[in-house]
Amino acid sequence: MPNPLENRQIALGVTGSIACFKSVDLASKLTQQRALVDVIMTRGALKFLTPLTFSSITHRDVVTDIFAPSSELSMDHVALAQRADVVLIAPATANAIAKLAHGLADDALTTTVLATTAPVIVAPAMDAHMFDNPATQENVRKLESRGIVVAGPAEGRLASGLTGKGRMLEPAELIAHLRMVLGRHGDLEGRKVVVSAGGTQEPIDPVRVITNRSSGKMGFAVAEAARDRGATALVVSAPTALPDPVGVHVVHVETALQMRDAVVHACADADALVMAAAVADWRPVSQATSKVKKGASESWSVELTKNPDILAAINHERLVKVGFAAESEELLANARSKLIGKGLDLIAANDITASDGGFASDDNRVLLLDKAGAVEELPLMSKYEVGNRILDRVVALLTR
Ligand SMILES: Cc1cc2nc3c(=O)[nH]c(=O)nc-3n(C[C@H](O)[C@H](O)[C@H](O)COP(=O)(O)O)c2cc1C
Repeated sequence: MPNPLENRQIALGVTGSIACFKSVDLASKLTQQRALVDVIMTRGALKFLTPLTFSSITHRDVVTDIFAPSSELSMDHVALAQRADVVLIAPATANAIAKLAHGLADDALTTTVLATTAPVIVAPAMDAHMFDNPATQENVRKLESRGIVVAGPAEGRLASGLTGKGRMLEPAELIAHLRMVLGRHGDLEGRKVVVSAGGTQEPIDPVRVITNRSSGKMGFAVAEAARDRGATALVVSAPTALPDPVGVHVVHVETALQMRDAVVHACADADALVMAAAVADWRPVSQATSKVKKGASESWSVELTKNPDILAAINHERLVKVGFAAESEELLANARSKLIGKGLDLIAANDITASDGGFASDDNRVLLLDKAGAVEELPLMSKYEVGNRILDRVVALLTR
């Protein structure tokens, strides 16, 4: 699965909001990911930034005036609309949203949106009162009813000094929206993929837990990769420091028992389950109802009992099941016995003693073992790419 943005034609509409400074970063990140970015600036945007700002990043002409003889659009006013794989308006002012809602085509951006058959994403940015205004709300709903994706806005501190809903989403979130929209008709379209992520927390008392070093990055990356191939992706997540991934349903849990219940429930109508969570094998037999004091004693014993196996609770034939084995010794042998013991279709084994992959890293180096006994050794790669390699195998199993 190649980089989903590579060589994709993105028409990036920039309108007259102070948030357009973030679009410079967005254009830069998209270009770094080898997308082909055609920026269209409105008259409002030109008050804040110059076309040179964007063209020096994208290395492509910026369109500002449909009638300018130098504009590509003066020869063919729908050229950008036709070649775009996706149109993203970020930031989208209240004015731009109103014009789109009413089907106006009085500048290069609105003409392009009206003429395109590509998916359109709008990222509103404005003062909270402007966004809350019934006129804007009605316009936003109109766009949504036509299949336009309205991404954000987020709550937070606004340029007006107010705190409220109106902040444009961050470039990373907008890139996630682009990937999701571009991958809508991927090879997992119509499929539901459930992923478990993070390290469960088993409470000892109200302030202390037994947990592990899982960061949740691997599970989140699998879910994002599934989303970007058209799947309905659901993550059952133990506590992590990560923000919820865009476009992924997230069920937050803490303990192994809660994770089991949530995974079983989510799998009822799922096609594949990828268990990337580090589920505690043990939990305290009992949990103190108030904080255990240091007191005078020199030691404290906590009795543990075994947690039930989550996969054992799922016996639905059609489901493709993938596990992870994080091992510090006997990697292959331990992974193989887990694959067989848990009835998995595939297991991704990683050596947690390796310095370049593992828990908190953005990269991972895994071996993929299947039921037939084949072992595929993958080089060090991003967790997103590992997720895609696993999903390649899931797709093959689903279409078997
Ligand atoms: C400093 C400044 C900041 C502005 N920020 C926003 C904004 O964040 N969102 C918005 O909807 N309008 C904002 N406006 C108002 C728009 O620029 C104005 O409505 C303009 O007509 C938008 O034109 P356009 O949508 O064609 O770019 C701002 C205006 C100024 C002077």
